[in-house]
Amino acid sequence: MAEIKQPSATNQPTTNGAHPPGSEPGVAAERSPDAPLTHRPRYAHIVGWGYHVPGKVITNHDLEQIVDTNDEWIRSRTGIAERHVAADPKETSVSLAVAAARKALEVADVPASKIDLIICSTTTPEHIFPATACLIQDALGANNAGAFDLSAACSGFVYGLAMARGHILAGDAEYVLVIGAETLSRIVDWTDRETCILFGDGAGAVLVAASEVPGGIMSVDLGSDGSGGNNLILPAGGSAMPTSLETVSSGMHYVKMDGKAVFRFATRVMASSTRKVLERAGYTTDEVDLVVPHQANIRIIQNSVLNQLKIPAEKVFVNLEKYGNTSTASIPIALCEAIEAGKLKPGYKVVFVGFGAGLTWAACAIDWRTPVEKPETGWWKNTRRQATYSAAAARSMWRRAVRWVYEVLPDPEAPGRDEGREKTPAEAPVKENTPERVRE
Ligand code: UT7
Repeated sequence: MAEIKQPSATNQPTTNGAHPPGSEPGVAAERSPDAPLTHRPRYAHIVGWGYHVPGKVITNHDLEQIVDTNDEWIRSRTGIAERHVAADPKETSVSLAVAAARKALEVADVPASKIDLIICSTTTPEHIFPATACLIQDALGANNAGAFDLSAACSGFVYGLAMARGHILAGDAEYVLVIGAETLSRIVDWTDRETCILFGDGAGAVLVAASEVPGGIMSVDLGSDGSGGNNLILPAGGSAMPTSLETVSSGMHYVKMDGKAVFRFATRVMASSTRKVLERAGYTTDEVDLVVPHQANIRIIQNSVLNQLKIPAEKVFVNLEKYGNTSTASIPIALCEAIEAGKLKPGYKVVFVGFGAGLTWAACAIDWRTPVEKPETGWWKNTRRQATYSAAAARSMWRRAVRWVYEVLPDPEAPGRDEGREKTPAEAPVKENTPERVRE
């Protein structure tokens, strides 16, 4: 794993904004090498990142052929010019997530076997169950990882980071893989111009690692308001409205949105949540070097981050023009592109902030310490990595085969198997508690 840089300014606050126990302002956090693990300071740093989007691009002009819209309206009302769409049925939330996760592990130079937990945030899971995170675990060969899905819509990736940080600070995990993956094109109504122009597909992943180096994810803010649940909803397919011919014929399996209500809510919470995490981390808005907001609508970003928080546009990373709104994947994809564009350096104070269905919102403040140069990957490392992916696939097939063998073997408890055999005393039927038996 790349070495996380010690902060140059050593007056580092702890995760709740106070100085680490025993540390004086201006003195690096001291610790005894003999201190029990639980007594040592722990921090949660992002040490790997990656994203993947499908190859097929749909431009605003393409959409003009499908619905009553035009490039000018979409650009001026949203800032979006094109979006990537999973046109190939083999491209699913899992395949996009696995590609992004592999890149994140490569950047971190950490093998999948070291991951303790996989959190996949998605609104387009592969199935209602099993969890998409479990399928990712299998594909990565992350044999030592727990895995679960997280449902917080577009805020989900930051919710996932908060969970990762919690597990790391509690001492329960060393490495947590957090993924935001979406194939929204599969749940969008391509005849509804108010929604189909907005969304795109993609996945982004980060590896969060435990470290004693001060910094990393310093503060988080998670919020929800279920009274606005109907503002952005996929009505059918759950237990409230199970899928039926009627739900399908009335299009209840597609996204329904009150765009104006979501817009008003978003501009309010983006600013307030950012303020909260900055205050908790002990930072001012002037100290922020980079904001990576949820990429839903350029007007929401302008209204909240630029106008209300007065953070200048050059400190706010925006790439929604190319991808549209990829929901929970938007922040990690934007993070990767911000790094590629040289907008992030060790020592920077970074904010992620998002909002979405639920209604939910989430923000976190990060003291970024990880070097951002792409690590050298020699042929040997690449070959070894490819071999572990092949081994993971072989292992998965083997486990499926073993399960299949158990299925075709005769069931020892099947009726008729023991016909004619005398029962052992232990197998003899228990007599009921009839009045006669009670008297016995
Ligand atoms: O991750 C969270 C996901 N959701 C969001 O972030 C959505 C937040 N909301 C928004 O981004 C905006 O509300 C939208 C982009 C969805 C809509 O923009 P708006 O400025 O609120 O437009 P509007 O709904 O007020 O519609 C204005 C007009 C309407 O026509 P009339 O009634 O004024 O004649 C719409 O019918 O624009 C019309 N319109 C369109 N015209 C061309 C709506 N969609 C389109 C379209 N093309 N695609």
